Amino acid sequence: MNANSNDVQHIDDGKLKDSKINVYNPKKTRELVNKLRINKDLEDDEFKYLLSMDEAESISILRDAAREVTNEHYSNKVYVRGLVEFSNICSQNCYYCGIRSGNQDIERFRLTVKDMLSAVDSGYEIGFRTFVFQGGEDPKFTDDVFEEVISKVKSKYPDSAITLSIGVRSYESYKRLKEAGADRFLLRHETADEGHFSYLHPSNQSFEQRKRALYDIKKLGYAVGTGIMVGSPKQKIDYIVKDLKFMRQLEPDMIGIGPFIPHKSSKFKDIEHGDMYLTLKMLSILRLMFPLATIPSTTALNTIDSEGRIRGIMHGANVIMPNLSPDNAKRNYNLYDNKKISGKESADYVRELNEYLMEYGYEIDFSRGDPLTIKNK
Ligand code: 5AD
Repeated sequence: MNANSNDVQHIDDGKLKDSKINVYNPKKTRELVNKLRINKDLEDDEFKYLLSMDEAESISILRDAAREVTNEHYSNKVYVRGLVEFSNICSQNCYYCGIRSGNQDIERFRLTVKDMLSAVDSGYEIGFRTFVFQGGEDPKFTDDVFEEVISKVKSKYPDSAITLSIGVRSYESYKRLKEAGADRFLLRHETADEGHFSYLHPSNQSFEQRKRALYDIKKLGYAVGTGIMVGSPKQKIDYIVKDLKFMRQLEPDMIGIGPFIPHKSSKFKDIEHGDMYLTLKMLSILRLMFPLATIPSTTALNTIDSEGRIRGIMHGANVIMPNLSPDNAKRNYNLYDNKKISGKESADYVRELNEYLMEYGYEIDFSRGDPLTIKNK
């Protein structure tokens, strides 16, 4: 096949395509992929090349390298995390998010400590050994409340890990929750470009503040996770390159990325969702940059494509986060439209998930699944 062949399968990469670098050149792709694999970093233009290439052969070169690296460290195992969405009440007003404070068009809920603990009980019974508490920045969830939840889970299930995804808080607060027993913390930086950050968030938030929070979290000894939405409004390839460079500096243990998906009652309601192939390329690039990180194949990816979850795994992700929240919480925790929820009992869901993964040569690993960045320390 040559560069002009009609057989080349081009993929519509949406609005982020840069036609200048978008040429069919698998040899160059192979070189850059090898370089990234060895150096774990690239020049800006080289990153842009990989992000912009749009035919199937080049994308599969990147995918196969990322999967090979994942296999070297994590074999074919996919870790599962039990997600508990504890509140959709939020004091922040991030413009893209369905649970932002300014959204009147939403039924709000808040789980009790008892609800949260019983979600953990049922998850533990199924086999989960990591629990992720994720919620809006709900003022009722003080340090005291989280301390109670964390210490109760830890004393009942000392062999489990606790991940918090609860937004920006003070150093003191992060410290108390670490001391209470939390192990990991997820806080996406969303974008490493100040101007873009201000476009997506109200003026009480800034990239600097996120960065401060992430470095606090890291300093306190949490495994730290960050990430972005791919295709967020007004995102440019240049910003994504900044994101990659920011992550190279931060050295996260976990990386969460998924496509942006519009929410009907947000000012971004008419913006197209993020591109699937760009998301998949990002997953693979991040895997090659961070071979030891844990990287989920996200619900957002599975929401824009029915095979999104397995595609994410094939591109280098190694985590899936099934939802353990009670049904009404699942229904109302809508960060974006059409979020995939399963009506199934968690136990059935997990069994079917494992059967599905096995068809593709992967399988669930129920252990705590600490990121190897931490284990190797
Ligand atoms: N589309 C996709 N992801 C979203 N998030 C919030 N709103 C959306 C949306 N509309 C993501 C953010 C946040 C995480 C919990 O969910 O990146 O950090």
